[in-house]
This record gives sequence, C-alpha cells and structure tokens, in this order.
Amino acid sequence: MWVSSLNLRDVRCHATLDLEFGAGCTLLVGGNGAGKTTVLEALHWLGTGRSFRRVPDEALVRTGRPAATVRARVHSGSRARVVHAEIPAQGSARVLLDGTAHRRGSSPSPVQATVFSPDDLELVKGGPQVRREYLDELLMVVTPRLRVVRDDLGRTLRQRNALLRRGLRSRADVGTLEVLTERFAGLSGELVAGRWELVARLLPGLRAAVEALDPVNRVEVAYRCSWEDPRTGGDARCGKVDAVPGAGPRPAELAETLWTALAARADLEAERGLTTLGPHRDDVLVELGGRDARTQGSQGEQRTLALALRLAAHGLVTEVLGVEPVLLLDDMFSELDERRSAALVERVRGAGQAVITATHDPPRAIRPVATIELRAGSLSPAA
Ligand SMILES: Nc1ncnc2c1ncn2[C@@H]1O[C@H](COP(=O)(O)OP(=O)(O)OP(=O)(O)O)[C@@H](O)[C@H]1O
Ligand SMILES: [Mg+2]
Repeated sequence: MWVSSLNLRDVRCHATLDLEFGAGCTLLVGGNGAGKTTVLEALHWLGTGRSFRRVPDEALVRTGRPAATVRARVHSGSRARVVHAEIPAQGSARVLLDGTAHRRGSSPSPVQATVFSPDDLELVKGGPQVRREYLDELLMVVTPRLRVVRDDLGRTLRQRNALLRRGLRSRADVGTLEVLTERFAGLSGELVAGRWELVARLLPGLRAAVEALDPVNRVEVAYRCSWEDPRTGGDARCGKVDAVPGAGPRPAELAETLWTALAARADLEAERGLTTLGPHRDDVLVELGGRDARTQGSQGEQRTLALALRLAAHGLVTEVLGVEPVLLLDDMFSELDERRSAALVERVRGAGQAVITATHDPPRAIRPVATIELRAGSLSPAA
C-alpha cells in the first residue's frame, strides 16, 4: 500500500500542510522543530488511532484550536480510498473512510505504517508497559478478533479495581467480585495466549534481523506471566517461547491458573484495592547471547534489538495482511552505526513506500525519489 497525499489542518505546529508522495522513498528534511515528526505521527495515527510518541490525542491538536484533521489518499492494488480523521482537543476522534464513519477494529485500517524512531530503544530498555503496547498493537492487526477481548478486558479490570478500591460491603459485592474475577481470568487467558502465539510468530523474523545485525548473539524470548504458570513453574513464571506456532499455553489453562492465583491473593487485593496479577502486569523478556538485554545489554545490543523488533513486526504485518505497510523512519540515521544503517537502508530500498525524516543528509544509498523541505511555520513546503 502507499499514500499519495496527506493533508494536515491544525496538527501540532502545522496550521495547513498539504503533501504529495510518490510510491518510493520520500525524504522530509528540515531543521529542528520544522514539523517532520509531526507528519509521520499524523500518518501513523491514521493506522492506529494513537500517537507513536505515546502522548494523548489532544497533544496532536494545534494549541488554541478546537480540533486537528488528517486526511490521506491511500492506494492498495488498483483501489484508492480516502481516510479522514478529526481529532478534537476534547472528546473522541472520528474517522471517515470514503466519507462513511469507520469504527476502529471493524476491519484493518487501510493505512498501515511501521514507525522506526530513536525512542524504540525504550522497547528494550524501558518498562514492561512499552513491550506490552508493542505486542498488543501488533496483535490487533495480526489477530483482529482479540480487539474485542482486549477492550472487554480493560473494562473488566477497571470495574474490578473500582470494586476492590471501594471495598466489599455486602454479599452482593462478593458475588459481583466473583463474576468479575471469572470474566477477567477468562479474557486474560485469551489475550495472553494470543500474545504468546504472536511472539512465536515474530521470533523467526526477529532472529533473522538480529542475525543480520549482530551475528554473534542468538536471541531468545520468554513471555513472563505475572502469575505462576504450572507449565514452567519455579520463581521465574517465565515461559521460553518456541518459534513453533501453536505450542504455547491454551487460553483455558491460563485462565484457570490466573483464577487460582487471584483466589490465593484475595486478602492482599482487598487490602491494596487493586488487581495485582494479570496481562496488565506481564512482560516479555528478551535475551541476547544468554543475557537479559534490558539489564545487561550494551547500548549497541539494545539498539540492535529495538531495530530488529520493528523489522520483525513489519515483516509479520506484511505477511499477514498481504500488503506492505509504509515505512516511516524518524531521524533514524543520526543514531545508527554503519552496519545497522546499511540493514535499514536495504529494507527501505526493498520497500513499497517509505517516508524518512532527517535534519541533515541521510546515507546516499537511500536514493529518495523526492525530497520535501519543511520549514517551521511555512504553509507550502518546497518539493
Ligand atoms: N500542540 C501544538 N501546537 C503548536 N505547536 C506544537 C504543538 N505541539 C508541538 N508543537 C511544536 O511543533 C514543532 C514541530 O515538532 P516536530 O517534533 O514535528 O519537529 P521536528 O521537525 O521533528 O523536529 P526535530 O528535528 O527536533 O525532531 C515543535 O516546535 C513543537 O514545539
Ligand atoms: Mg523530530
């Protein structure tokens, strides 16, 4: 798929910005604060409904304006569609697909984008939430039926936490907690089994990417449940994920172990007023050369893994959807050494469409088909 035009109104620093793209690689250049990242952020938002900078929607709205709008013309095969999003400073965003309201999750967004950003380092160095978000975002594309599960799970968790916080005051409250716990465990089992399976499907691509970047070190991935899994036992509560799809735990067994673990913690949870175990507390452990990459990896190894995690995700989405997402590279070449740069350039050159931002010239081998210069506050960029 590729995007031929992008129109921004009141998106961060851009009052009005109209851009045209070709199917190959476009370079967006401009000084700091020219609004380069903003362009990528807007495109990515159309695909996911969230900012890759992990900020709330209202941060996309130009200060003092009621709403931001983003519009793109998207091509897939011979079909062209127009996606239009209105993101208000307050309230929920609205997306129109060829003029008709589009409910997120009812079908994959016609805009698919893989973003590479220096902040990806957080995928390896950061807290578990960043890795959970990485997995879940990918899961919603690869296994769309789990979107309903994830949304239900979020609601159930909020209800369960509210009840625990308020305290169990009656028999009816105890009954409600039982119902919520049962539902929470069941939905958790489905989501965690989905995440586990996703890691198994990602692993070959991840290994291939690491192999190309850092051939001496082998990568292993383990899904770390926040509760004991009798299959793995021990303190680690960690299951090494095999690259064999279908080899992970079943939803029902995960649900049962979680239910049992929650039952054993009833007093503790009542005291703390929150749900202490579940997918919202899980993590993914990535090992490179037998060492935990998060705590023991060098900066270079961590960058390798961050890049490899994005490349693997990009490959999997391409395989599952049968269309290659647009590659969005935000200021990447300033951060990468020659070897990693070369691997990324190779991917860009083999890609359908890429949009790359840079403050100065990126590697020559990229050979963009067009360069657009953005200037802070300018309405019409020089092409
Ligand atoms: N809500 C907003 N309203 C108006 N301006 C904003 C808003 N949010 C951010 N900005 C400004 O938008 C500008 C563009 O930000 P952006 O991150 O897109 O720039 P950039 O070209 O990627 O810069 P850099 O090279 O430093 O990464 C910044 O100067 C920022 O302060
Ligand atoms: Mg930027």
